Amino acid sequence: MIFRRLLPVILAFFLLPGCSQKEIVSGDFTLVSPLPRNVAAGGIGEDPFILSRSTVISFSDVSLRDAAGLLAEGLEEATGLSLRISDNRPRKNFILLSLDSAPDTGLEGFQQEESYRIGCDAGGITVSGGSVKGVLHGIQTLCKALPVVERPEACRFALPAATVYDYPEFPYRAFMLDCGRHFFSVSYIKELIDILALHNLNYFHWHLTEDQGWRLEIKKYPKLTEIGSSRPGTRDPQTDKLDGIPVSGFYTQEEAREIVRYAAGRGITVIPEIDLPGHTQAALAAYPELGCTGGPYEVATRYGVLDDVLCVGKDEVMDFVKEVLTEVMDIFPSEYIHLGGDECPKVRWEKCPDCQRKIRELGLKASGSKTREELLQSWFSSQLEAFLAEHGRRMICWNDVLCDWGDKVVGEPSKQTVIAGWMRTASTEIAVREGYDAILCPVDYCYFSNAAVNRITGIESIRRVYDLPVRPEGLSEAGQRHILGVEACIWTERVSETDSLEWRLLPRLSTLSELQWSDPAQHDIGAYLPRLRHMADIYGSRGWAWKTDIAEAWEQE
Ligand code: ACM
Ligand code: ZN
Repeated sequence: MIFRRLLPVILAFFLLPGCSQKEIVSGDFTLVSPLPRNVAAGGIGEDPFILSRSTVISFSDVSLRDAAGLLAEGLEEATGLSLRISDNRPRKNFILLSLDSAPDTGLEGFQQEESYRIGCDAGGITVSGGSVKGVLHGIQTLCKALPVVERPEACRFALPAATVYDYPEFPYRAFMLDCGRHFFSVSYIKELIDILALHNLNYFHWHLTEDQGWRLEIKKYPKLTEIGSSRPGTRDPQTDKLDGIPVSGFYTQEEAREIVRYAAGRGITVIPEIDLPGHTQAALAAYPELGCTGGPYEVATRYGVLDDVLCVGKDEVMDFVKEVLTEVMDIFPSEYIHLGGDECPKVRWEKCPDCQRKIRELGLKASGSKTREELLQSWFSSQLEAFLAEHGRRMICWNDVLCDWGDKVVGEPSKQTVIAGWMRTASTEIAVREGYDAILCPVDYCYFSNAAVNRITGIESIRRVYDLPVRPEGLSEAGQRHILGVEACIWTERVSETDSLEWRLLPRLSTLSELQWSDPAQHDIGAYLPRLRHMADIYGSRGWAWKTDIAEAWEQE
């Protein structure tokens, strides 16, 4: 017994000299991006916490067991230490995860659920969150605060005595990936979710259907993926020549559920997008009877805005859509379901007897800039909004259902619709003024794949994202509250490889996350650059293909 008590002392005697040779490298909570709201350093002379092989990760509630596993993985990746997880917290040398509804600060926009607090001193670290999601953000902050070193095995890692208190600016912090134009594997989608979690995002908007490919298995309509998920190649926009490179792939329902579970474990909700009634040529290729002309149609090999869309004058089309959505809701528990609504030309509807009959039946009359066909789309999307609402879900649509590039109001979606404003910031402002909740994703700041944003290189590329006015000045305070958050998008017409995806995404996603999460009063690009550099080091250590031309920013410092 005595020997057992003495054993650690004896071992320490033999092991410590080796350890003490190691260089101590110190972390820094103020280098974390997105910047935490409040970092209070411990008292002068207060000792840091030193991570060691005997540090124990512990949790106060079983709901935090998986989070403890993620923390262990994150720490091992950063430090090489493989730490023990136990529900018994030792008196010293611990990292404790706990649930603790942080007191409401009374500050505008305070969000309990995702808030967290980190208390760090020489004896241990406690990460407490308003919910598991808050704890997960705290874990990210803890791991991001650690320095990135080339030889972790040669270092001892210290974290300074400090208290961090943090919560997000916006409740909706999303990234969208278009998997319709190109398909990305399940394992890569998981890696992408890891990237989103690192940046404190809480929604992955998964664009699953396009003219060029339908990517989600729907059991009642198997041809959607049997036929609709493959195209023989892609045409050059100038020469119209087919490149002969086949593109195919889809997610089975089981795979989609696996993604949902994986994301949920990291605090991220997956929002599926089934783009309707435009961008549906792949669905029409599978089921031509759903179109106005009856086809034949092919899975699109051209990009752009295509004329063949769902015929919303046919009752069978509404039945088809509701059946598809029933399966979608079964796979995705997300409150938000995105139903697209963008870029739906009306040329087929104008000539289609079924669509024109529906317009007459509904008594739709053109008024101002709203044509009868635009109002037919408003009717269609309102029916779907009500259908989703019956199932406790909320519909998001692109701003096309409400307003156009000329900032004209062209539609009347039901007021519960959340409008994703992509046609510059004006579209979000129009949505908010019309009384809608809205998401800011303006093409000129948030479309990381588009030439307007993507051609910008170096530090200007960061400044472009950083300059997005997330609290547009013209809006009242009540109007500001209608802005749920900010989202970046990658469309994949020209992105077929993960490297080129990451090159567009990183490090802009870090800049975006500062807008989504941090206090706008603390936005300052000069102060942000060291945090950006630290993020770039993290990307490098994970093997992600970030856009290195931005490094000029700190080379000039
Ligand atoms: C979009 O960019 N068509 C939403
Ligand atoms: Zn029609």
